[in-house]
Amino acid sequence: MGERVRVCEVGPRDGLQMAKSIMPTAIKAKWIAAIAAAGVPEIEVGSFVSPKLIPQMADTDQIVRGALLIPGLTVMALVPNLKGAQRAYEAGAHGIGIPVSVSEGHSRANTNKGTDDQVAEVRRIVEWVRAQARPMRIEPGCATAFGCSIDGRIPVARVVRVATQLAEAGADAIALADTVGYGNPALVHEVVRAVRGSIGDKLTKLHLHDTCGLGLANALAGLEEGIRSFDSALAGLGGCPFAPGASGNIVTEDLVFMLESMGFETGIDLAKLLEARALLHEGVPTEALHGQVSLAGIPRTFRKVA
Ligand code: COA
Ligand code: ZN
Repeated sequence: MGERVRVCEVGPRDGLQMAKSIMPTAIKAKWIAAIAAAGVPEIEVGSFVSPKLIPQMADTDQIVRGALLIPGLTVMALVPNLKGAQRAYEAGAHGIGIPVSVSEGHSRANTNKGTDDQVAEVRRIVEWVRAQARPMRIEPGCATAFGCSIDGRIPVARVVRVATQLAEAGADAIALADTVGYGNPALVHEVVRAVRGSIGDKLTKLHLHDTCGLGLANALAGLEEGIRSFDSALAGLGGCPFAPGASGNIVTEDLVFMLESMGFETGIDLAKLLEARALLHEGVPTEALHGQVSLAGIPRTFRKVA
């Protein structure tokens, strides 16, 4: 048995939030079911944000409730504030992601709050969630941890400070996000090491974008640092509407191909995963679908190294 790597599909959230047309709820539900049926253990199925800002996510309540019926699937949702956390809890989500941008400029553009105020919002969310009857995982992510299209370079010390504050706030796990895809492998090594030096294993996950073509190289750098959990989006859709210049997430199919080829166990059936692209295309027909393995076909040399 190879070592396990957890892939969290964020296509229904990050992937769709910039799509030009709105995916019909029924197709979104079927698409999520198809991704889960391919063996993906965890899906961020949507976000509880202002529907005026992101109409694409107006059906997240319904989508969460439907996804909860899929056996074994961990159902995550992104929330920007306490109100979003309360909506996620009511819908029954297993866990929530919370964007906390290390860059002041992106933080204000994305959540209308500076970084310190957004950290304070995480404290409020933790306090509220911990007082409820049912547990719900709280996994904030340090957005723009590897550079920002609004503020430029982000000092590593700032990333460490925000990650440490989030750990101290009582988060269950913390992710580092390359929101705009400006990272590079050397920087991934440096930032992961520095953050781990402060919060240890509370740093669990990388959320990477492929804006400059370095997405999988960055994932590999993370793997080399011991990261065993990654966000990715089917067909590489994605991008933050409030971070100019951001393009898609790393492609789930290509990430799974890389991981399985290297002998890591993802539990994901690559052929079935590729089939799920059809429903994505049906739901948002004008979006360009990315991914090299889909173009090339699964190489005949590919097999899981068990
Ligand atoms: N879900 C639904 N509606 C929400 C909400 C939530 N989580 N949070 C706030 N709202 C509503 C309020 O009820 C209010 O509605 P009203 O105008 O009908 O009274 C309105 O949004 C404004 O509320 P306010 O608390 O003043 O928020 P804001 O205008 O400062 O916006 C956010 C803050 C966080 C709600 C908004 O910036 C947002 O949704 N950001 C998310 C952006 C995003 O999805 N980015 C991509 C993912 S990283
Ligand atoms: Zn993203």
